[in-house]
Amino acid sequence: MSSEEDKGGASGQPLWAGRFGEGPSDELLAFTVSLPYDRRLAGDDLAGSRAHVNMLERVGLLDEQERQVIIAALARVEEELVEGTFAFAPTDEDIHTAIERRVTEIAGATGAKLHTGRSRNDQVALDMRLYVRREGRVQAARIHELQTVLLRRAEEATDVYLPGYTHLQRAQPVLLAHHLLAHFWALGRDLDRWRDCLARANVSPLGAGALAGSSLPLDPEIVANELAFPATFDNSLDAVSDRDFVAEALFVATLTQVHLSRIGEELVLWSTEEFGFLRLHDAFSTGSSMLPQKKNPDIAELARGKAGRLIGNLAGFLATLKGLPLAYNRDLQEDKEPLFDTLDACSRSLLALTGLLATAEFVDTRMTTAADDPMSAATDLAEHLVEQGTPFREAHAMVGRLVRQAVERGVPLDELVSNDPNLGPDCLTLLEPGRTVGRRTTPGGAGPEPVARQLHQARDRLAHQQGWLDR
Ligand code: ARG
Repeated sequence: MSSEEDKGGASGQPLWAGRFGEGPSDELLAFTVSLPYDRRLAGDDLAGSRAHVNMLERVGLLDEQERQVIIAALARVEEELVEGTFAFAPTDEDIHTAIERRVTEIAGATGAKLHTGRSRNDQVALDMRLYVRREGRVQAARIHELQTVLLRRAEEATDVYLPGYTHLQRAQPVLLAHHLLAHFWALGRDLDRWRDCLARANVSPLGAGALAGSSLPLDPEIVANELAFPATFDNSLDAVSDRDFVAEALFVATLTQVHLSRIGEELVLWSTEEFGFLRLHDAFSTGSSMLPQKKNPDIAELARGKAGRLIGNLAGFLATLKGLPLAYNRDLQEDKEPLFDTLDACSRSLLALTGLLATAEFVDTRMTTAADDPMSAATDLAEHLVEQGTPFREAHAMVGRLVRQAVERGVPLDELVSNDPNLGPDCLTLLEPGRTVGRRTTPGGAGPEPVARQLHQARDRLAHQQGWLDR
């Protein structure tokens, strides 16, 4: 113990020691400690403490000299934490306790004024909001990067088309750009959800105290202004109990991961010998320890696999919340591990999939060959009959019969089409390679005209998102 540590009087003792005859048991400390994972809130905790101390001075609870002493102690704590020289004590149950203990060691009786009018309950709620606000923007930026790569690959894909699938059965050809942009728009909604979630997280809870506010003349507005929160809490009980913003952040990241999982599943399929639509770059695939010929899509699989764990984190945290009476309960400490785990996993998945998609090679010939199967034009044949005045249901049945004959008798579909009195040789052009995708002309459709418009919209969309990210 350094000589400084003696001064504060709090060293080696929990913050609540006054009320207790005996110190905490080892079992209690081992069970309740959150320091190993809430250390990452250190920067947020220091920012919150600075704002709190500045507010205490503004309302007359500290004089200017005391304010400066505590601010200097906080700066030193920050330095120690950054340099890795901060000595944690066995009784530091969380990062808030550790920082306050050290400030008191450094600044003595003045340091002991840091926690005036504050509870760890409003303090931890503030730290978590600062964390979500910061990390949510990182997530949004990573989503934006993946969208940027999807758009670039879509632009490069020009007129490449592949089978579009329903039920994983070949349905109708679609432009590769159209397929890639489908994922672009889903991710755009995830980014929107972050904006929405962050707007609600952006409320300062500091000044709520343990649960009921304070008899001291605290001013939550001053803290909120310094930390750039546009709003303060309306109700102190709600302020310390509310973890909606954590649940929302978990949901947004989990839904993003579900989207990544679906992309991952397609990449797994596309990179198989059977599909052969995609070749993975060496730097974004793995080999087998036993099978020399293997090249495995582990990134895509992990993006898919992690979705399971993230769904568990979300469901688990909602279960944590569901039975809690007002206001703070220690159960709320269980917000941290799922949130950190989920955001870490999602942002790493985003980075890895972005790299995979930026470097993978699309095998255009495999895609177009698969899509050129004349059967893929069946709907176009039916629509041709509709244009001639045949009711659609009848046209569907007529073409369906031709398909059945082709399959059962092993006759090529074009031969049957050519000989069919309702269709005839003129219709053979519909079966020509690359023909049907060009006929998807309706708004938002899979053909070149609507996709050109869509590419334009996607570029606008990215510019708009960039504007928000820069703000
Ligand atoms: N480590 C705690 C948490 O994360 C801090 C709040 C503790 N408050 C209390 N009254 N025990 O929730």
